[in-house]
Amino acid sequence: MTSSPEPRVAICPGSFDPLTNGHVDLITRASRIFDRVVVAVLVNEQKTPLLPLADRVRLVQQVVAGLDGVSVESFEGLLTEFAAARRASAIVRGLRSAADFDYEWPMTVMNRRLRPEIETVFLVPSPEVGAISSRLVKEIWGLGGDISGLVPPAVLARMRTVTR
Ligand code: PNS
Repeated sequence: MTSSPEPRVAICPGSFDPLTNGHVDLITRASRIFDRVVVAVLVNEQKTPLLPLADRVRLVQQVVAGLDGVSVESFEGLLTEFAAARRASAIVRGLRSAADFDYEWPMTVMNRRLRPEIETVFLVPSPEVGAISSRLVKEIWGLGGDISGLVPPAVLARMRTVTR
């Protein structure tokens, strides 16, 4: 009798403050490669997020509901420990630019040092969403600009309830 192989699990970690169309592109790409994808929403103890954790988790859940094998959880502490507890073989991050690489590289090296068996995998987003970041979405929103097209409709609706 042949035993079925272990499902290939990936973690998509981030602050998701807020979830953008760039994140959705990344999670969708990851879901095509891995059997299961756990979107891991950082609790953010130091930074004060714009949206509370419960809302960030709920919005990701709503938006990824149609994607097979994708679940959403919050996490605190070391990402590598969360990933190991979920029996993940990979951490998936988006790479939009060389600046992203500079930000990601030290984290990748440290995460590998902590858990050499977990590989960090970088995926390049569609050009249409390649310039979107949560930071710029918040800045544009805070200054009264239009962020429709940058975030999913559910996120836009939630942002409309935030005092600018
Ligand atoms: O969306 P972000 O804010 O760029 O995501 C950053 C994230 C969540 C990937 C990073 O801050 C992280 O992994 N935090 C968990 C704490 C941790 O493991 N730190 C050591 C990283 S080498």
